[in-house]
Amino acid sequence: MFEITRKKELNPTVTLMDIKAPYMAKKAEPGQFIILRVDEDGERIPLTIADFDREAGTVTIIFQVVGATTEKLNHLNEGDCVHDFVGPLGVATETEGLKKVAVVGGGVGCAIAYPIAKKLHNNGCVVHSVVGFRTKDLVILEDEFKAASDALYVMTDDGSHGEKGLVTDALKNLIESGEKYDEVIVIGPLVMMKFVCLLTKQYGIKTVVSMNPVMVDGTGMCGGCRLTVGGKTKFACVDGPDFDGHEVDFDEAIARSGMYKGFERKCHEDTCNLFKGVRNDG
Ligand SMILES: Cc1cc2nc3c(=O)[nH]c(=O)nc-3n(C[C@H](O)[C@H](O)[C@H](O)COP(=O)(O)OP(=O)(O)OC[C@H]3O[C@@H](n4cnc5c(N)ncnc54)[C@H](O)[C@@H]3O)c2cc1C
Ligand code: FES
Repeated sequence: MFEITRKKELNPTVTLMDIKAPYMAKKAEPGQFIILRVDEDGERIPLTIADFDREAGTVTIIFQVVGATTEKLNHLNEGDCVHDFVGPLGVATETEGLKKVAVVGGGVGCAIAYPIAKKLHNNGCVVHSVVGFRTKDLVILEDEFKAASDALYVMTDDGSHGEKGLVTDALKNLIESGEKYDEVIVIGPLVMMKFVCLLTKQYGIKTVVSMNPVMVDGTGMCGGCRLTVGGKTKFACVDGPDFDGHEVDFDEAIARSGMYKGFERKCHEDTCNLFKGVRNDG
């Protein structure tokens, strides 16, 4: 059992939790993820390691409540425990030798992008962060990004905070104003990553994406997380989650990401009714 030592609501649908996991905290690196089960009968869900404190022995997760398991997790509080917490899994983000990087985050993808920006910044790399949200109320980790970046550009779709527009608008402006990046690292919704990659390809800038397909075991055995990268089948859990964004078949990944929508909706409705104490015979 793994204790929740801190819980903080970052916006109405996104929650941060610190979990006591000293062995994992010792080894965790940005870009890696964990798999947890809330309780003994729970579904296994992958979440990125958003931060870690090797001294305190804690690992931070930041999750958006989107369905049954994240809803259940969000009902736990400080002092409660999650049943399983396995990791660190996956390959850490490659940061060696990078001198100037644009880190682009979209929505809850910023939780994955933030520890990478922080590590690059701590290594002395110049970091320009571009973060995008639908609206002001959904903005997360702004102060954290500010501290981990040489320049921060906040974009909102409706202009209610930062600049009005998409992350691709801000990134295009930066590139066209003469900024030269060794690499762009982009994490967010599949459609956003696809369009950032189309943009950076025009300018010949290496671009790394973090892919989050459905995962089951997280150890390369089930094939659930398979993707096509450079015409070859790759498993996001062991070969990634980071990949060369110019090689990823985004259209296939987008089509596969919707495969279980019906089941997920039904499961979420049942969980919501359970927490509301409503009997569901349906
Ligand atoms: C490597 C990795 C890192 C991730 N990191 C984060 C993170 O830091 N914060 C965050 O909010 N989310 C993250 N996700 C997505 C997170 O795992 C899903 O939101 C979660 O599994 C949803 O479960 P649910 O039962 O609440 O929702 P459901 O209703 O079951 O699903 C909602 C959506 O979540 C995705 N999903 C569902 N089950 C899985 C699964 N087993 N594996 C992957 N995706 C799934 C699907 O796109 C689905 O449409 C990550 C996914 C991966 C693969
Ligand atoms: S999650 Fe099973 S192979 Fe990747």
